[in-house]
Amino acid sequence: MCGIVGYTGDKNCVPVIMNGLTALAYRGYDSAGIAVWEGSELVLRKAKGKIDNLKAILEQSPVSGKSGIGHTRWATHGEPSDVNAHPHTDTRKTLAIVHNGIIENYQQIKGMLVKNGCEFVSETDTEVVAQLLGYLYRGNPLTALKQAVALIEGSFALAILFADDPETIYCTCKDSPMVLGHGQNESVVASDIPAILEYTRDVCFMQDRQIAVLRKSGITYYDEFGVEIQKTPTHIDWDVESAKKGNYEHFMMKEICEEPETFRKTFEQYVSTKDFTLKSDRFPWSEEQAKNFDRLTIVSCGTAYHAGMLGKRFIEHMAKLSVDVDIASEFRYNDTMLQSGEPFLVISQSGETADTIAAMRRAKEIGCNTMAVCNVTGSTISREAGSVMYTYAGPEIAVAATKTYLAQIIVMYLCALDLAQKRGAMTAEAVSERLREMSKVPASMQKILDNKEQVQFFASRSFAVKHVFFIGRGLDYALAMEAALKLKEISYIHSEAYAAGELKHGTIALIEDGSLVVALATQPELQAKIASNMEEVRVRGAHVLAVTNGHWEGAKGHSHTQWEIDQMDETLAPLCAIIPMQLLAYYLAVQKGCPVDQPRNLAKSVTVE
Ligand code: AGP
Repeated sequence: MCGIVGYTGDKNCVPVIMNGLTALAYRGYDSAGIAVWEGSELVLRKAKGKIDNLKAILEQSPVSGKSGIGHTRWATHGEPSDVNAHPHTDTRKTLAIVHNGIIENYQQIKGMLVKNGCEFVSETDTEVVAQLLGYLYRGNPLTALKQAVALIEGSFALAILFADDPETIYCTCKDSPMVLGHGQNESVVASDIPAILEYTRDVCFMQDRQIAVLRKSGITYYDEFGVEIQKTPTHIDWDVESAKKGNYEHFMMKEICEEPETFRKTFEQYVSTKDFTLKSDRFPWSEEQAKNFDRLTIVSCGTAYHAGMLGKRFIEHMAKLSVDVDIASEFRYNDTMLQSGEPFLVISQSGETADTIAAMRRAKEIGCNTMAVCNVTGSTISREAGSVMYTYAGPEIAVAATKTYLAQIIVMYLCALDLAQKRGAMTAEAVSERLREMSKVPASMQKILDNKEQVQFFASRSFAVKHVFFIGRGLDYALAMEAALKLKEISYIHSEAYAAGELKHGTIALIEDGSLVVALATQPELQAKIASNMEEVRVRGAHVLAVTNGHWEGAKGHSHTQWEIDQMDETLAPLCAIIPMQLLAYYLAVQKGCPVDQPRNLAKSVTVE
């Protein structure tokens, strides 16, 4: 939540910062601002609303300089407004600061600072840090920063410009991500990789309470005690274009269209495609461990939680291992029966979700064997987990997760096969056969994408719908949860997922003329059952859209519209059926004129509780 960018080097920092903020807009977009040293003057420009508002201000009143910091905000303390927008300064104007996170003891510190003559202008917790630093500053930025970090509680990523050292940027963080880019005659800092890819691919990830001092000539790192440390940059091989919109109107559509490629890339990392065998050393458990597991716990948030729900069904079905799935924000405070040594898996696209990090740390304290499924190398979760299975989706910019969800469920599917083989629940031949089948799924996905106008047409006739219910059984129910989240998240249409058999226990009272019910019916064994549920809502006035695994003649009698995916093994069907669901959410949102990539009130990376 909130995006930070800082630049110092040979270039004019303003376009670099503005490009970076644009790339980070998914992290928050209710106001934006920039602070630049123009000659000997610190110039601030801020604007409520999206980054375009700040761009307009900069066009009217241009500013340039060799070092500066910028911020795109997702408000926590203080409403979105010009005055609450970052950067913030101290009363004496000795510094400017941008912040991502929440300072939990800000009121206590503010009281002390007010007594000492600081005059606050905003309602933000960030200004408290600016004033605190200004108050502590006695000519040595590093000392003031160390002292301030020792006093503040909560989560923070901070980038600071000091008036006395205008070409240097000081940074530190705790429980909030920061990536440092090592360029040629330039140094960059940002909250996430896409903001700096254009300048360098050699990056270091900050760890809690470390301090980085960025100069044109390079970056120096210190531990929390101020002792200089060495960090070796990691080379990021994400391609610059993958973080750009190209010819697509929205990142979300681009990312949906990238799903067949994401499938292939992720699949090839874990499967030898010569003989369709699993690269068993890429999975975080040995045969002995897999055999001795009694239970696996999966914890995550939002879409990643839905990937966990599907993972549970894959693993229980194929590997015959009991799986508990929990929402991270619940897990972290509930009683837990977890025991030391048990396997504990978190799933996170960003690797920076505050609740998921806290859940993983709790499991580590208990002594669990922690593992992560993650898309971002160097993120907090990937660094702290005992082992990591990466998803190979590349950067995802739209707030709504699409290709990363797909990559997560692919990894979950492959984990299920690997556990099944290692636990003796499936033979190597059966696993190989399933992998061979699986390798054909991207071609089926591509067919859906090539025919996406079918979904667009349906959306053009349905966008006025007020309520959408996604129903399914088994794997389809887990998929329905994600389909419903996607729709509500970007189109603001009320949508819910229900286990199809559960409708008649209450929810069916909501069905009325014109309700849209999407029946996910990809599981042949459960077709007769879901047919009854489709009929129950059809006769009560709902428009029923059925999504089927190959042709199912029976669907016609119980639904008004049928979409078929290619016929495939029922366990693989969710990997393909998610695409029409994502397209449906996309086209309904577009029809309604919603800001698809940046839906209201949301941010992609949820780094606060
Ligand atoms: C997905 O569309 C959402 N933006 C959201 O639910 C997201 O999946 C959730 O916040 C978890 O994020 P993570 O995968 O980065 O941990």
